[in-house]
Amino acid sequence: MSLLIIGGTGTLGRQIVRRALDEGHSVRCMVRSQKRAAFLKEWGAELVWGDLCEPDSLPPVLEGITAVIDAATTRATDSSNIQKVDWYGKVSVIQAVEAAGIKRYIFCSILDAQDHREVPLMEIKHCTELFLKESQLQYTILQLSGFLQGLIGQYAIPILENQTVWVTGEAAPIAYMDTQDIARFAVRSLSLKDTIHRSFPVVGLRAWGGYEIIRLCERLTSKEAKVSRMPIGILRAVRNFAGFFAWGVNLSDRLAFTEVLTSGKSLTADMSQTYQVYGIESGEITTLESYLQDYFSRIMKKLKEIEFQQEKLREKQKNKNKSFWY
Ligand SMILES: NC(=O)c1ccc[n+]([C@@H]2O[C@H](COP(=O)([O-])OP(=O)(O)OC[C@H]3O[C@@H](n4cnc5c(N)ncnc54)[C@H](OP(=O)(O)O)[C@@H]3O)[C@@H](O)[C@H]2O)c1
Repeated sequence: MSLLIIGGTGTLGRQIVRRALDEGHSVRCMVRSQKRAAFLKEWGAELVWGDLCEPDSLPPVLEGITAVIDAATTRATDSSNIQKVDWYGKVSVIQAVEAAGIKRYIFCSILDAQDHREVPLMEIKHCTELFLKESQLQYTILQLSGFLQGLIGQYAIPILENQTVWVTGEAAPIAYMDTQDIARFAVRSLSLKDTIHRSFPVVGLRAWGGYEIIRLCERLTSKEAKVSRMPIGILRAVRNFAGFFAWGVNLSDRLAFTEVLTSGKSLTADMSQTYQVYGIESGEITTLESYLQDYFSRIMKKLKEIEFQQEKLREKQKNKNKSFWY
């Protein structure tokens, strides 16, 4: 299959590229920066310049393609806002895919988007799902929650470095999933007729609250976390303030997720049908415990190696000084 991946440099996108290449697909990635995407070329993907915000760049990218996996979204650091990328950009790409006569389209959405229409990105994801359903495409929609990879910056590193971990006390638990597991579902969709014209939740084994994750990290690192609670009211105030300014719109849209976290409803779903259709068993899915355990043991091993090297250097320096004096 000649596959186009949009968002291949992203946290999830790169795992989809890796998986698709490993499974023998010919992979093209639409990228905005060849430099940022150099690692994808090293893996064996073809890189073609394209930008969701530039509709004219799309038709050449789609030449010779038989299926598209879309794992792109607005970067928090970008000057483009989510309306430009996640709405107008996605509408342009879906129309260009239809015009190119390509049928298969796998779309990464967010779980329960239809229930949180007050959150701009959720509203856009919901509308994009509807837009796809009205298109001629053989779509599959993967409804995702949080990624395990996001927990490293949020909890693991601050705890290892004795920095403050910020939590919102009232935050709803989230069923985080490893992006490598999500990539398996995304790529397998291409070979399963039963996934055409359907939406599937693709989420982790169980929902975890912030304090539970902190306790687990403390146990795995034998360190005590410095936890500070961020009142929801402050997040809302920052969101409203940032929303007044052009530079703050992206930030404001992201902080809008506060409303999802405080809705009281866990971001999780019953995966039994997804497992059944995809022929994947729950036992094959990475647990949050094993993911963090693996991360910490790799880091601890690296730290011990560095300590050992530093000790060796100190010994060498000591012996050098001794031989100078005698
Ligand atoms: N992260 C989560 O916890 C989460 C949860 C639920 C659903 N999702 C969904 O899962 C998907 C992947 O998310 P992610 O966190 O892996 O994303 P990410 O790491 O932020 O990566 C975003 C990707 O989109 C690309 N992109 C951004 N603007 C673009 C444009 N104008 N034209 C072309 N490409 C553009 C970026 O390319 P550059 O390298 O050029 O910037 C990058 O490859 C998204 O659809 C997201 O909504 C994510």
